[in-house]
Amino acid sequence: MSTKGMWCILVALFLAGGGCVSEQPAPRVTAETSPSDVTAAPPAKAQGPTEVADESTVETRTPDVIYVPTPQPVVERMLELAKVTKNDVVYDLGSGDGRIVVTAAKKYGCRAFGFDIDPQRVREAKENVAKNGVGDLVTIQQKDIFTLDLSPASVVTLYLLPSLNVKLIPQLEKLKPGARIVSHDFDMQGVTPDQVVTVDEDGDGFGRTVYLWTTPLKKGSAAQG
Ligand SMILES: C[S@@+](CC[C@H](N)C(=O)[O-])C[C@H]1O[C@@H](n2cnc3c(N)ncnc32)[C@H](O)[C@@H]1O
Repeated sequence: MSTKGMWCILVALFLAGGGCVSEQPAPRVTAETSPSDVTAAPPAKAQGPTEVADESTVETRTPDVIYVPTPQPVVERMLELAKVTKNDVVYDLGSGDGRIVVTAAKKYGCRAFGFDIDPQRVREAKENVAKNGVGDLVTIQQKDIFTLDLSPASVVTLYLLPSLNVKLIPQLEKLKPGARIVSHDFDMQGVTPDQVVTVDEDGDGFGRTVYLWTTPLKKGSAAQG
């Protein structure tokens, strides 16, 4: 056998054995009072896509932001601001317990997709979908949002962090013209919002901010609000 042939067999055996990198389970992420960066947590090894029974692609690594749910009045306002109709396709990036996609399907009868990297959140969201009887309209998948093709979406909802919103810009630019993006609490530096509203859910004068952008994105200006 040639030297090249031997080398190919050695490389194939190494890869089949997983090389010298050990597997690490994804960390458990718990709810806190507001989202925060979790990049300080020990890094988990990104696992390659794996086929599962529901044929969705599972992706597991450390979440970029902890789970904090959007209060229901703010969810309702986000969907109103985006002028969701039954013809829309809503994507919630980092969907938590699925409340945004469940509300979109129940209230507007549209299709909605929730993506979260944390398997615990994916389980909760699937339970929420089943409990609310919207399984025909809502799909929940365990995915890293930074690997998604967003072009099928006409509405994208976000409750992440300012830096993560900015990181999503190249993907958001691939949305069709007229798509709407709404973000709870956080702007997108370098992209001018069309609207910024405050939702005072508790009536205590301390409102939550919701930002709306429409595509094509208005880049090159400082975000307002
Ligand atoms: C602040 S919570 C928002 C939950 C939900 N969208 C809401 O507004 O109620 C952010 C969610 O993003 C998820 N997340 C963080 N990094 C992610 C990533 N790279 N891909 C997918 N989900 C991610 C977290 O697991 C968490 O559930």
